[in-house]
Amino acid sequence: MGTPHNEAAQGAFAKTVLMPGDPLRAKFIAETFLQDAKLVNNVRGVQGYTGTYQGTPVSVMASGMGMPSIGIYSHELFHFYDVDNIIRVGSAGAISPQLKVRDVVFGQGSCTDSNYAHQFGLGGTFAPIADFTLLETAVTVARKLGIEPHVGSLLSSDVFYNKAGNTLDWGKMGVLAVEMESAALYCNAAEAGKRALAICTISDSLITGEELPAADRQTTFTQMMEIALGVAVE
Ligand code: ADE
Repeated sequence: MGTPHNEAAQGAFAKTVLMPGDPLRAKFIAETFLQDAKLVNNVRGVQGYTGTYQGTPVSVMASGMGMPSIGIYSHELFHFYDVDNIIRVGSAGAISPQLKVRDVVFGQGSCTDSNYAHQFGLGGTFAPIADFTLLETAVTVARKLGIEPHVGSLLSSDVFYNKAGNTLDWGKMGVLAVEMESAALYCNAAEAGKRALAICTISDSLITGEELPAADRQTTFTQMMEIALGVAVE
């Protein structure tokens, strides 16, 4: 028995699932980095695969874009498929002058303009954070690979085209980069008593207007994947 959004059988997912936003990227990751990858979900074309990396079972499934989408898929993975760790592998826009395109950012915490956490009825402001063990392992793995990660706050926004034009105000509060999924993922991990981490590569800068050239995307993406897979098999 699956869920409304996932047709995989019980036990079809590994304990660690990597989540890119894009379903085609999930397929690419499975084909490029995993051994013996099998398609386990394809409801709405949201592809999920399970294979192995260095002998350890690892799954990859797309999250779709935005907090409602990753909210559904991560909830189901944690609660119905008994997944323990979800590592988002995505892109983000720099809102801090410290960051340049191609940099790798680990979301230690996730600010948001969404009211996703309202559902938990807490009567205050919940602070969504990464799992410390995953974060610490990711820092160690990155350094071993010769990559110095930026670690700090992400902004998970509900809007890509922000008409208020105030995204950079978050940068003035020390937030490093804007993306659209990590806050819901971290909330769901907290609610489920499970673990999550968002790893992002900087694809564009809202400060300089710079964008990662298409030709460079693959190399940067490969570095992020090596970190995420290194964490998955630790
Ligand atoms: N992901 C990558 N770049 C982004 C941006 N500028 N805004 C929101 N999400 C992003």
